[in-house]
Order: sequence, then structure tokens, then C-alpha cells
Amino acid sequence: MLNGKKSLFSGMQATGTLQLGNYLGALKNWVELEDEYETFYCVVDMHSITVRQEPAELRRKARALLTLYIAAGLNPEKNCIYYQSHVPAHAELNWILNCFTYMGELNRMTQFKDKASKNEENINAGLFTYPVLMAADILLFQSDIVPVGDDQKQHIEITRDIAQRFNSIYGDVFTIPEPYIKKTGARIMSLQDPTSKMSKSDENENASIYLLDDTDTIIRKFKRAVTDSDSEIRHSKDKPGISNLIEIYGIATGKSIAETEKEFEGKGYGDFKLAVGEAVATMLKPIQDRFDDLNKDKAYIDGIIKNNAEKAAYFANKTLRKVQKKIGFPEKIK
Ligand code: TRP
Repeated sequence: MLNGKKSLFSGMQATGTLQLGNYLGALKNWVELEDEYETFYCVVDMHSITVRQEPAELRRKARALLTLYIAAGLNPEKNCIYYQSHVPAHAELNWILNCFTYMGELNRMTQFKDKASKNEENINAGLFTYPVLMAADILLFQSDIVPVGDDQKQHIEITRDIAQRFNSIYGDVFTIPEPYIKKTGARIMSLQDPTSKMSKSDENENASIYLLDDTDTIIRKFKRAVTDSDSEIRHSKDKPGISNLIEIYGIATGKSIAETEKEFEGKGYGDFKLAVGEAVATMLKPIQDRFDDLNKDKAYIDGIIKNNAEKAAYFANKTLRKVQKKIGFPEKIK
């Protein structure tokens, strides 16, 4: 709880480009949470350097992500959208929590094993302790809920374990967070392999629709979407490609599955794919226009960056001071 409200924290890496799945499965739904929760959406640039980054590129992508959040509808006056590296409390709590986390626990993390196998030339200590920094992110804000994808569940589990361990020694310092995984939310699948989720780290560009793709690109990608061999536009388990497109079309137009099936009865895949592409392009256009406008207003975005970092630091430091006191760090002399 913060400010008499439940607290929500989520972090995202700036390294990929946000895609349709991120928008429909996450961002779009977050807009509705801003009144009920005190929300923090952090661009986790400190996590990003666990894998080698090109500096100018990291800086550009971090700013684009922060701007895109606002363009997609998150009001930055109500939602604290900020850079992790601007709030030193993340690093300070990270160190403390390192001392309450076991090597054995970190060794079990599937994401570490996966990333280590993909970066054999740079298996650094930061990659290994990545989940501890993530625990610090979440626990600093006394977060009640953490909206994440399935792949992050194990990280929320270890965060809970670390928090409980700390609380059992020092009393109730941390709120124990719950993962918030929307069950009814859209699960947007890859356009090239409809049995796996659309992912911003997918190397095949045709598999994902990026939020900043232009209309022609969007239509071309939908035209190339992998579908099954018959030609009926029908939602069914054995037609994962067409089912995915029907769902995307439904979200973009507000039409139900039955309405869509009826609309395209007797029509071919080509017509349908074109219609989906146009509908998605129309849905994304206002976000893209807003993104362009925001990019022209450097002072406005700079102001948000500054104010939100201060707001985040205020809440984070409260928790950090409490932790430092509990573990016996000497008080600062004022
Ligand atoms: N590990 C998350 C991811 O790759 C990003 C992240 C960092 C995060 N800190 C977080 C997510 C805190 C939720 C809460 O997607």
C-alpha cells in the first residue's frame, strides 16, 4: 500500500521494440488501473546492461519506450513512468537483498540458464543476480501486484521468497507481491508460428507487428501470416493461425468471433488478411501520431522524466531507509 492505495509495479526492458502483443496483452489494460492503484512503470535500463548494449542505441530505445508508454495512453501525471538508473535506491536495495539471496536459488532460474546459454562469452555476475535487482524494484514500492507475462512468474516467486525471508528476521518490512497475470486478456500469437506467443525478442521481423510499424508494413506482415491449408475463416483449435487473426481483428474492431466469421463467410484468406491489416493499422495510427507529437516536445518529456524520477525516489527512499535501519546501518548525521 502507498498513499492509501494498492501499489503496482512493472518493469520493461528497452532493448526490444514494443509489439502488438505487449500493447493488447498489457499496456492497453494498464490504462484502466491508474485510479485504483498507485502505479510505477519503470524502464529497467540497469537490467539491460546484463547483456552488452550499444550506448547510443540504449539511450535512444529507453527514451522511445518511455514516450511510447505515454503515447499508448498512460497518463504520466497519474502513472509514474521513469528510468531505473535515475533512482539510486534500486542499486542500494539490490546490494542489501544480495545478502539475503542464496546462490542455489539463483542457480535454478530458467531465464538465467537460457540467457547464459545465448551469451556464453559474457556470463557476468549481473546476469546471475538479475532477479535480485528485480526483487529490489518490486519491494521498494511495497507493491501489491506486479503485471508480468508468464515467463516472469519464477522471478516473482523468488521476490516473494526473499521478502518473506527478510520479514521473518526483521518484522513486516516488505509487502509480499502477487503476480498479476490477466487470464481473460488477449494472448497474441506470432504471425509466423501461431503456436508461440508474439515476442519482442523474436528475430523474425515478420512474426511481430511493432507499434511503430507503418500501414504498408503492417498489411504486408498480415498478408504473409502463416495460416492453415483450408480456406475457411473459422475460429477453431486446429486452425491456430486463422484463430489468432480472428482474435486480433476482434480487438481492433470490437467484433465478436461469430460476427467476424459471418462477415467473411465465403471469402478467402487474402481478403481477410487485408482487412485485419487495415484494422490494426487504423487502431495504431493515433498512438503513432501521438508518439510523433510527443517527440517534438522535448521539454515536456524531459519534465516528465525529472518529476517522475523524483516521485519514484520519494517512495523508494522511504522503504530503503526503513530497511537500512532494520539491518543496523548507522544513522546519517544531519
Ligand atoms: N525482467 C522483466 C522482463 O524482462 C523486466 C523487469 C525488471 C520487471 N524489473 C521488473 C518486471 C520488476 C516486473 C517487475 O520482462
